[in-house]
Formats: sequence, structure tokens, C-alpha cells
Amino acid sequence: MSAAPLASYPALRMRRLRQADWTRRLVRESRLAPSDLIWSVIVHDGEGRVPVASMPGVQRLSVAEAAKAAREAKALGIPAIAVFPHVDGGEKNAVGSKAADPDGLIARAVKGMKDAAPEVGIMCDVALDPFTDHGHDGVIEAGRILNDATIERLVAQGLMQARAGCDILAPSDMMDGRVGVLRTALEAAGLQDTLIMSYAAKYASAFYGPYREAIGSSKLGTGSADNPADKATYQMDAANSDEALREVALDIAEGADMVMVKPGMPYLDIVRRIVDAFSMPTFAFQVSGEYAMIMAAAQNGWLDEDRAVLESLTAFKRAGCAGVITYFAPRAARLLEA
Ligand code: PBG
Repeated sequence: MSAAPLASYPALRMRRLRQADWTRRLVRESRLAPSDLIWSVIVHDGEGRVPVASMPGVQRLSVAEAAKAAREAKALGIPAIAVFPHVDGGEKNAVGSKAADPDGLIARAVKGMKDAAPEVGIMCDVALDPFTDHGHDGVIEAGRILNDATIERLVAQGLMQARAGCDILAPSDMMDGRVGVLRTALEAAGLQDTLIMSYAAKYASAFYGPYREAIGSSKLGTGSADNPADKATYQMDAANSDEALREVALDIAEGADMVMVKPGMPYLDIVRRIVDAFSMPTFAFQVSGEYAMIMAAAQNGWLDEDRAVLESLTAFKRAGCAGVITYFAPRAARLLEA
């Protein structure tokens, strides 16, 4: 007995629109383009390129190599680069003093990239963790991360970055009120055109693991008693969703131009809720652990790397993202070009 093709109404055949490449392209709902990508790049103070073991294919770049990367971004149609510093242990201390150094690595990298490709937007993380010897994003007192004392340092850091030529300040620290204080300080300094993309809904996540190695950040909780084991007192609980909307509402009210969700793939439900609720340009960060998972599986022959890269990035667009911060940016842009 042959099965009836469809139970209710045989003329309804969803597969008709999937029958050929041209029909699929015609009805495709979201499209990934190089212009959706923000390329996350790690810089270091040494020469050349140094591979990051936990992130196959990612290398720490010297300032000169970062300038080349900016030209590459331009050639590939990637609108912006997010830059993160690898800081030597000797440069770090408990309060991250070097974070606001106007002659430091970040300032030099930003200038180098803006000189090489002024058309490419440069985004900087406003956060102390690459510069603290305990790896936390804030100043610690008796085991507690101090909110307002941390913000003072973040403002100095953000102003330095903006003066160096950074186009987008991206506070990733999750201190309360930092977007407003940063926005007020930018206005007062005559830097009213500097954009802010807040890490509005940033979760305390295991998926940042490889990033710690990439930027040379110490393992949390292994230092003194003053070093809490995780970031749970400032980053969000992975179980929460309504709270993300409150975080985003505050950052918008405080003057953020764009908001971000982080990590990316496990949090696309949060992206969709934010887009629906606020209609703000909403981004997500495909973080180091997401990159590492795809690469590790691909290197074992367990999945097709190119297809997984494009599928994962397309999922961000489908969820409603204006764009994605990703270590895959140049590879994806090349795949999209081909
Ligand atoms: C720190 C910061 C982190 C990342 C970006 N900025 C790590 C953290 O919050 O612990 C993670 C990036 C990645 O994993 O790719 N302020």
C-alpha cells in the first residue's frame, strides 16, 4: 500500500520551493555577507604572528601584521575589526594600570590599523582583564569586584582608545552604569562621534576558555584568596533571559548605539528577544570556545569546516543579528566571495 503523500491537503508541498538552487535562493529569508562580519583579532607586542594553540588558525598579530589585517579586511569587504591585546605577565598588576596607557599596545595597534585602512572601523574592548594579574575585569577588594572604582579605570581606558582613533568602544566588563559614565565622558572630551557597542547581555560562560590563553590571561581563582573563581558576580547567569532585556534597556538609556549578546550560538534566543523588543542594531559574539569547537571537530574529520562556518554565521543572521563578531571573518568572507 502506498502512503498518501499528505494527510490533509495534497496540494501543499513544502518541498516544491526546495527543488532547485534557483528556487531556494529566490525564497531565502536571510543572507550572510562580508558586511555582516566584525573580525576579532588578537595583537601582541612581539614580532610577526604567534599561533594560539587552543584556536587553530588564529594567530596573535604584531602591530605591523595587524595593519596588514586591516588592509585585508578592506579588500574582503569586512567593515570592522575588534582588537584584543595579549599582554605579557610582567605588565599586569592588580588594578590593570596599563589598560589606559596612551603608548601601549592597543593605542599603537589602533593607530597602525587606522593608518593602513582608514575605511575599516576599529572596535576596542573596554575591560581590564587583559591587564590584571588575576584575570578579572575589575578592581578587587576583599574578594569583591568593585563596581565604581572599576568604572573610573574603564573611562580612562575608553578615552585613551577613542583618542588613539578607535571608532567603537565595546565595554565588556559588565559593571553597572559604565555605558552612561563612558558616554558622558566622551561628550565632555569632544568625542561625541565615538560609537558604543555595549556587551549588554554578557553571560558568565565556559565558552571563553580559549580566549584566556589567547590573551595570556591567568586562570581565574588560582591566585590569592582575593581572586574569585569565576565572573558570576558581574556577568549574567546562563539560565536567565528576562534579565537580558533589562540589561539592554539600561544600556540603551545610558547611550549605547548598538548592543551585543555574548556568547553567540548558545544564546540566539536572547538575540531574537532583544531584536523584537528594542529594534536596536544587535550583534552577537561567536566566542573563542565556539570557534574552538568547530575547529576541533573539523580537524577530527567530524564535520565539514567550510559548511559549519557558514551555517553557524547564517544562524546569527536568522536570529536577527545585524552582524557577528567572529574569528572566522576573513575565512567566511572568502567563502562568500567564491
Ligand atoms: C573580557 C572579555 C572576554 C571576552 C571578550 N572580552 C572574556 C571574559 O569575559 O572572561 C571573550 C572573547 C572570546 O572568548 O572570544 N572582558
